[in-house]
Amino acid sequence: MAYWEQDIAEIILTEEQIAQRVGQLAEHISADYQDCELVLVGILTGSFVFLADLMRQLTRRCQVDFFDVSSYGDDMTSSGEVAILKDLSLPVTGKHVLMVEDIVDSGRTVAKLVEVVKDRQPASVKVCTLLSKTARRELAVELNYIGFEIPDYFVVGYGLDYAQRFRSLPFVAVLKDDAMLTHRE
Ligand code: IMP
Ligand code: MG
Repeated sequence: MAYWEQDIAEIILTEEQIAQRVGQLAEHISADYQDCELVLVGILTGSFVFLADLMRQLTRRCQVDFFDVSSYGDDMTSSGEVAILKDLSLPVTGKHVLMVEDIVDSGRTVAKLVEVVKDRQPASVKVCTLLSKTARRELAVELNYIGFEIPDYFVVGYGLDYAQRFRSLPFVAVLKDDAMLTHRE
C-alpha cells in the first residue's frame, strides 16, 4: 500500500489529466505572448510544482521569480491580511508579468499581489491558476488562465498542502476527515 493511501479519500485530478491541461495552458500562453518576454511570478509555496511544469512547456523566453506570503489563516483558509514575506528579486517595470498560483479560493492572495505588481508599472499583468474555487470567492479577481474549476473541497497534492504535508503527491486529492485530524499540528 502506498504511503498516502490511508489518508486520501478521493483523487479528483489524476497525473495524466493535470499534465494534459498544463500542456494546453502553456499552448494558450505561448500563443498570447508571441513577441515578448514574460516574467513568471510564482506564489510560494504551493505554486512551485505547477510553475515548474508549466514553464518547461512554454515556447517563449521567460524569467522566473517568486513572492512568498503569509496570510495569517489556519491550515485551510487564508485570512484577509496578506503579508509579503519575500518580495520579488527582479524589477517588473515595463515587463509582461504572469502570476502563477496553485489555487484561488477567496481571491485575497492574488488580488493583493496583483495590486503590488501593478504599482510597479509593468507592461501587463495576468493571472494563471491551476485550480479555482469560484464558489468561495470573496473578491472579484480576473483569472486569465484557469486549469480546472473545482467544487468547494479542500484539496492537496501537486504542490498543495495540508499543514505543510502532501505537496509531493503527483495528483490532486481530497483528504479523509481523520487524516486532517492526524496531520493537523
Ligand atoms: P485565497 O487568498 O483565499 O484565494 O487563498 C489562496 C491560498 O490559500 C492558496 O495559495 C493556498 O495556499 C490556500 N488554499 C486555498 N484552498 C486550498 C486547498 O483546497 N488546499 C490547499 N491550499 C488551499
Ligand atoms: Mg499557498
